Amino acid sequence: LNYLTPKSRLEVLDLLVTGLKRLEYRGYDSTGVAIDSPDSKNIVMVKRTGKVKVLEDAIQEHFTGGEYSEPVATHIGIAHTRWATHGEPCERNSHPQRSDEGNGFVVVHNGIITNYNDVKTFLRKRGYEFESETDTEVFAKLVHHLWKTHPTYSFRELVEQAILQLEGAFAVAVKSKHFPGECVAARRSSPLLVGIKTKTRLATDHIPILYGKDTDSGKPQVLPRSDSTSEFMPLEEKEVEYFFASDASAVIEHTNRVIYLEDDDVAAVRDGTLSIHRLKKSLDDPHAREITTLKMEIQQIMKGNYDYFMQKEIFEQPDSVVNTMRGRVRFDGNAIVLGGIKDYIPEIKRCRRLMLIGCGTSYHSAVATRQLLEELTELPVMVELASDFLDRNTPIFRDDVCFFISQSGETADTLMALRYCKQRGALIVGITNTVGSSICRESHCGVHINAGPEIGVASTKAYTSQFISLVMFALVMSEDRLSLQQRRLEILQALSNLADQIRKVLKLDSKVQELAKDLYQHKSLLIMGRGYNFATCLEGALKVKELTYMHSEGIMAGELKHGPLALVDDSMPVLMIVLRDPVYVKCMNALQQVTSRKGCPVIICEEGDEETKAFSSRSLEIPRTVDCLQGILTVIPMQLLSYHIAVLRGCDVDCPRNLAKSVTVE
Ligand code: G6P
Repeated sequence: LNYLTPKSRLEVLDLLVTGLKRLEYRGYDSTGVAIDSPDSKNIVMVKRTGKVKVLEDAIQEHFTGGEYSEPVATHIGIAHTRWATHGEPCERNSHPQRSDEGNGFVVVHNGIITNYNDVKTFLRKRGYEFESETDTEVFAKLVHHLWKTHPTYSFRELVEQAILQLEGAFAVAVKSKHFPGECVAARRSSPLLVGIKTKTRLATDHIPILYGKDTDSGKPQVLPRSDSTSEFMPLEEKEVEYFFASDASAVIEHTNRVIYLEDDDVAAVRDGTLSIHRLKKSLDDPHAREITTLKMEIQQIMKGNYDYFMQKEIFEQPDSVVNTMRGRVRFDGNAIVLGGIKDYIPEIKRCRRLMLIGCGTSYHSAVATRQLLEELTELPVMVELASDFLDRNTPIFRDDVCFFISQSGETADTLMALRYCKQRGALIVGITNTVGSSICRESHCGVHINAGPEIGVASTKAYTSQFISLVMFALVMSEDRLSLQQRRLEILQALSNLADQIRKVLKLDSKVQELAKDLYQHKSLLIMGRGYNFATCLEGALKVKELTYMHSEGIMAGELKHGPLALVDDSMPVLMIVLRDPVYVKCMNALQQVTSRKGCPVIICEEGDEETKAFSSRSLEIPRTVDCLQGILTVIPMQLLSYHIAVLRGCDVDCPRNLAKSVTVE
């Protein structure tokens, strides 16, 4: 929403398309954009199936007239990149969705409206005809219906009344030709932030929340602050640019000043003034929303010299693991401080059990560290997939400590599980990579993994940083256990060498690429291991599946004889992780079971372990570290392997088909 300096519609479109590119990792089935027509009386939309690039080309074809390059003082545009939930990816189902053929109200939406069928039936009875299969369309049409029936309502009130009727999760931004120069956005359960760019420094770092119904004068009420005499200034900048976005990467090149909206906030911009409104005020509601300054740098979300974000993120790991430990681990004094949870440690030590909950790769980081957590905390540790945890209505007690692990901090299943546990009185610990995310804000305490923005849909550096965060937690928990000091020292020592060892593993890149050439035409890849490295098998197989569309399975080597061995013959590609750790002998058994069925596995083993290497013609040697951190070094060859296979198979590495980076729907 531009009120800063006059911009042409083409410039606005350019800004929107760049924003979409930054958000593309969140979904990339289809895209769309809506801006004002040259006479500002209508709204023009362009929508396309496919990625943002397709939309960008379409925009170039569509907006050729000179009037689109004329600067306008005020302009509002909305745009969207979609990950389909309701309705196939096609132009008709892409956003913006509209209220009527005249594009009276157009809306972009992230999330799922669960009662959309009821609303649809209601609206159909009132003569509305639907043109898409999306849940979003009901929103546009409901706002239109309210506008018809309540002609005195402001734009904000219309959106507010509409969301009162809706169930589910959403972040929406709405534009209307009936309210030119205005835009309204609202959220419930899906992330939404407001970016603010001004010429001069902002006079305030908070903006007040307006509560309640509008008064007769049409002005919403500002409730007086009871706790202080000072008033927050409303944000009434005249030279300002506002951005509504699902995440900060879309706005960071314009501004680092953002407000994270909360559930049921309705934000409206009119004549350069931003207001945040809530219908009801509960006792503990604050009076204002804080304007936060982001630390993210634009370079962090650029590819630099790499071909793909995923490749960049794999190679960033020597640095990202150090960033996770920075300011927390003191190698000289063997001390670890996790500022975000330190006050809760006594309470955590008294708990009944630890629960680690996540989805996808984040779940695997829990599997990877469970054994060490059991060892160093001497507590029962449950590891749960968020979706399954919720399906089972798992019993939760007030003295449980529940960890929610999520790179994005927005994964709907994980967030639902968090709320479920919070309601039952458990202590909630968030392990996230995204400051200001929902999981971060709804946790009692937590650890930011500080891996830096991760853009590639397949998670890599976030995994190793989640892993280290959980290891650090285990070390904190065992600080005063005399019997565990030797073990702690060994782990701390290994942590201090980790970055160099990761650099060494990354040097295997060309060897892994060669291996990828052998494997990429196969249909399947089995990855076997056990103990500390079972998580690498699961995570490696997930990487292969999501990036290459090959079948892959992570197999617990102990289970081999109970079924998976039937898959092994001389043509089935197998990869085995065999390290000199407490399960070495058992892994060797598995290796022999495979070779005696004519399987010829690729082996990941320790540097210089000739005896193990002798069992195969192909091996990848990694440096030796302490057993419980070995999983960090074994997962990196798997990340590289899946990356190279994906490139060889011509797959879109950063945007695998049918997937999205942050899945904000259940
Ligand atoms: C999606 C992503 C995965 C990720 C999972 C959990 O499926 O494609 O890479 O592991 O969500 O995401 P989270 O942000 O909660 O870690």
